[in-house]
Amino acid sequence: MSVTNANAVTNANAVANADAVTAELGPDVARLLDRHLRTASEWFPHQYVPWGRGQDFDGPLGGEAWACSQSELPAAVRGALLVNLLTEDNLPSYHHELLTTYGREEAWRVWIHRWTAEEDRHATVLRAYLHTTRGVDPVALERARIAHLSTGFAVGYADEPLAALAYVLLQERATRLTHRNTGRASADPVCEQMLRRIAVDENLHMLFYRDLATAALSAFPDEMMRGLARAVTEFRMPGHALRGFNGVAVKMAFAGIYDLCLHRDQVVMPILRHLGVFDRTGLGPVGEAARERLARDVEELSQKADAFAERRAALLESSGRRLLVDGVTHSTVLSPE
Ligand SMILES: [Fe+2]
Ligand SMILES: [Fe+2]
Repeated sequence: MSVTNANAVTNANAVANADAVTAELGPDVARLLDRHLRTASEWFPHQYVPWGRGQDFDGPLGGEAWACSQSELPAAVRGALLVNLLTEDNLPSYHHELLTTYGREEAWRVWIHRWTAEEDRHATVLRAYLHTTRGVDPVALERARIAHLSTGFAVGYADEPLAALAYVLLQERATRLTHRNTGRASADPVCEQMLRRIAVDENLHMLFYRDLATAALSAFPDEMMRGLARAVTEFRMPGHALRGFNGVAVKMAFAGIYDLCLHRDQVVMPILRHLGVFDRTGLGPVGEAARERLARDVEELSQKADAFAERRAALLESSGRRLLVDGVTHSTVLSPE
């Protein structure tokens, strides 16, 4: 399908429909999938788990029950690992949503299945690490997993597939950063090595979606600009619906794992710069309006990030870094807001 024809099947609100997007971008998906398969290296979750640090739990095996004191991980890191794992656990929902949105075309289907297989490794290795090192309460973790998956997850862009594409791009970059920073903050070289390995996967996923977004911006300039503006403005991490998420997010922000400044400087702005959003010419009225909205929202994000950085510096100064970073007990991670 030509670009002209693809644009012709968008609706009056300049939202490219899923049929047009999947058909037009199908060759790019095939090209980027091929690059991904040539670039991605095989790895094995079991090799990243310190099995020697494990022991039987209570229950049928009659081992020792979990206790918070068994883990030396900082509380903010335990919270981050828990959120990261439960987020990865919700893979069936993401798979369903991607397949429903883009699965009409063969290359997209192959990509989505491969992506799902790679993402599934992340929950596998994270859970094994946390069980073996007794990093979190395994009973609370399992109950949270059941509750989280029973709720499911919908990114909410079924009506706008290019906003969904922009969202997964932001999310992969954000997840890459979160895993890396959680590893650094863990003070456990085994944990850091595992999270670095996961982040390599997330990086390749990000590159796939980034370059697909570049192609989308050429094929559907106005519609992709609109999708980007919407995804940036409305962005929330996929774990946001977790019970207790906000409390953990605050601890992660104070521990420097993920905060508004990182979101602006290492997620949103590098993507917008790479896509050349503010230099692009030839947009129609819808694209121009979306870009103006994007510029306003980025400015607002920037002001909030600066204000947060100032507040955090003042609080750390007055309270002491250790109190604020480690001042969350394990139980609050899974308690209601
Ligand atoms: Fe992942
Ligand atoms: Fe990923």
